[in-house]
Amino acid sequence: MMVREWDPRTASSAEIASLLSTLNAVLAADLPQDPPWRETSLREYLAEVMPGERRISWIAQAEPTAPGDPGAVLGQVHVLLLGDIGVLEVLVHPSARRSGLGRDLVLRAARRVYQEGFQSIGVEVVGDTPAVAFYESLGFAREYVETRSVLDLTAVDWAELAEMATGIGAGYHLEFFPGGPPDDLIEAYARAKAEVRDVDDGELRPSSYDPERLRDSLDTLHRRGMKPYIVLARHEQSGEVAGLTEVVVPAQHPTRADQYDTIVAQDHRGYGIDRAIKARMLLELRSAEPELIEVQTWNAQANEAMLKVNAELGYRSDRDWCEYSVDVAELVHRLDPPR
Ligand SMILES: CC(C)(COP(=O)(O)OP(=O)(O)OC[C@H]1O[C@@H](n2cnc3c(N)ncnc32)[C@H](O)[C@@H]1OP(=O)(O)O)[C@@H](O)C(=O)NCCC(=O)NCCS
Repeated sequence: MMVREWDPRTASSAEIASLLSTLNAVLAADLPQDPPWRETSLREYLAEVMPGERRISWIAQAEPTAPGDPGAVLGQVHVLLLGDIGVLEVLVHPSARRSGLGRDLVLRAARRVYQEGFQSIGVEVVGDTPAVAFYESLGFAREYVETRSVLDLTAVDWAELAEMATGIGAGYHLEFFPGGPPDDLIEAYARAKAEVRDVDDGELRPSSYDPERLRDSLDTLHRRGMKPYIVLARHEQSGEVAGLTEVVVPAQHPTRADQYDTIVAQDHRGYGIDRAIKARMLLELRSAEPELIEVQTWNAQANEAMLKVNAELGYRSDRDWCEYSVDVAELVHRLDPPR
């Protein structure tokens, strides 16, 4: 096995295909209910980042078995450097586990994060998978737990949903924007996001508050092959964005979409906006994305109001989704003690 730094932009198609097959073997082992990924825009997904961010990757490759065989990609690590933390992701093919490869990959990334002067490393860890024991063995500590829930669109009562979508207080109307909010709404949209309290989102994906950052983040999504859809609730009298919900359909797994932020501004709570915008979104997705069969969302366990609406829509809780972190210097010292 050889580990080396790897750039998805210049990687061969054979390497991208091999990484995809490892990713799908990992999903089949650890998250068998999740849809396998496709190669569509996978290179872009791995390569593209927000302005000011950097993602550095390494792969572990098996020895070639025949001339012309590039060697299977059996492991991968990447770290996204943003703000003052490095966000880590590690994958090891199920057939190559428990031989120290995962630990070796983390060490490569950790050394670099340390050299770059960052203080801590964060990672999303899926509950009930080997990753929990793995990160705990490396000294990572749990910071935050969310619940992932999945909605099966084949079991949805569409007539009931159509009623929910119109059950909104007088003085509001809903608007649907495939691809993201139009430019003349970006400012109002960013203002609503800046006010966020109830967020259907993980902490490792920072929300975009100011208009410039919001434009960048929409642009980055598109470059990574991820299509955003937005439903807004407008307050007719003031023109304000009273509520918004965002769903992203990734080209890599278009049968299962990701719910991003859902926000109802403080002054506009209690009018059924959360329920109505989410119901309208599902109705729109049904015609815009014929391949779509599931939507997944992440919620803080304490967010009872939002969990209640999600349950009414038919979401079923799936598993814990945890955020772990570790001090980089401590991690490097633990894995690579000075001799
Ligand atoms: C977590 C993962 C990277 C570990 O890779 P690995 O190569 O098996 O890890 P290592 O061999 O370096 O293990 C290091 C230590 O972690 C702990 N560990 C790893 N897997 C473990 C398991 N299944 N049970 C208990 N402890 C475990 C052990 O302490 C191990 O040391 P040991 O083997 O000497 O006892 C791998 O299981 C993986 O790719 N999981 C999927 C990760 C992921 O992000 N998935 C996202 C979609 S599900």
